[in-house]
Amino acid sequence: DKTPTIAVIGGDGIGPEVVAEGLKVLDATVGGSAFSYVHYDLGAERWQRTGEVLPESVLEELTGVDAIILGAVGAAPGSKAIPSGLLERGLLLKLRFAFDHYVNLRPSKLYPGVVTPLSDAIVERGPIDFVVVREGTEGLYCGVGGSMQTGTPFEVANEVSVNTARGVERVVRDAFERAMRRRKKVTLVHKHNVLVNAGGLWNRIFQAVAAEFPEVSNDYLHVDATMIMLVQDPQRFDVIVTDNLFGDIVTDLAAAVTGGIGLAASANINPTGAFPSMFEPVHGSAPDIAGQGIADPTATISSMALLLDHLGRREDAARIESAVDADVAARGSDRRTTSQVGDAIAARV
Ligand code: NAD
Ligand code: IPM
Ligand code: MN
Repeated sequence: DKTPTIAVIGGDGIGPEVVAEGLKVLDATVGGSAFSYVHYDLGAERWQRTGEVLPESVLEELTGVDAIILGAVGAAPGSKAIPSGLLERGLLLKLRFAFDHYVNLRPSKLYPGVVTPLSDAIVERGPIDFVVVREGTEGLYCGVGGSMQTGTPFEVANEVSVNTARGVERVVRDAFERAMRRRKKVTLVHKHNVLVNAGGLWNRIFQAVAAEFPEVSNDYLHVDATMIMLVQDPQRFDVIVTDNLFGDIVTDLAAAVTGGIGLAASANINPTGAFPSMFEPVHGSAPDIAGQGIADPTATISSMALLLDHLGRREDAARIESAVDADVAARGSDRRTTSQVGDAIAARV
């Protein structure tokens, strides 16, 4: 059969630096010729040079690949050269929406030996190992809304959260199916005490799907209380299902309590296989450390395990997972460069 094609978008800031290490580990795991890679030069530089963010022809080419690897896109918050959101909306979100990545999967696991801001007393209670199933194609990310009388004292600015019964049902179902392969517990995170319309829909669908999975226990937390639980009782979570924006916020805190944003992997999955799925670290382009060779590539490397798993190479994925486990356990507080981390993990797979 035919060699799978993987599109690679390094992007901005530390994106290309961490993606290089991801590819290094991928090669060490499956060999240099298992996949054929197509590199796309997209991001801030391309836009500044040509005015293009994601040309239609590239979008069309990407439709035909087997998976996409993305570093990160976006300028430093406050940058004057690049309008905020131009690359994020025009490239990253464009791909998530165009390829119907409705499952944004973000695993969080506190590896033994990893430094965490959590207290010892909390860590000693037991393993922390949960996944966030973040809805990826709806909510406040749809771009519905607008601003009137912009720049005047009468300005009104709206962003509308779009939630469809079909969109909520399919992601909630994915969360329950995932829980069946894990510790069999799903927590819905929302804010239905205030967001009665969207929250009501999520709640009703959650209850209906839960009834189909009697083996899976379920509960509900408001998103604000979730912040408390992530810090004070993270062991309570197995699978969290939530909307697009809550999921964005929850997963940065989840990363912070499980060893930092440098370790947090993610997969933007279209479970139907109708479109290619996309694998990227949870973090962004980190302009504050870009170009210094000090970014932690572990999140991107773990995202390569999610990619292999998605392509049906479970055993290869497990080799990367074990290599990452071993590396993070051994690293302690030593400061290594981006490529040293990649070399060390590649040597272990
Ligand atoms: P960020 O994740 O880029 O950085 C937040 C902090 O985490 C910074 O201090 C950074 O140095 C640190 N950090 C991030 N990744 C790291 C790594 N691998 N190793 C060590 N430290 C790391 O978030 P931000 O500063 O809010 O955003 C910067 C830009 O990235 C913005 O333009 C934003 O829109 C964009 N962004 C893109 C993506 C993406 O493409 N998927 C995701 C998040 C943010
Ligand atoms: C993420 C990022 C993106 C998001 C931004 C850059 C659009 O923060 O992948 O977590 O909000 O989804
Ligand atoms: Mn985010």
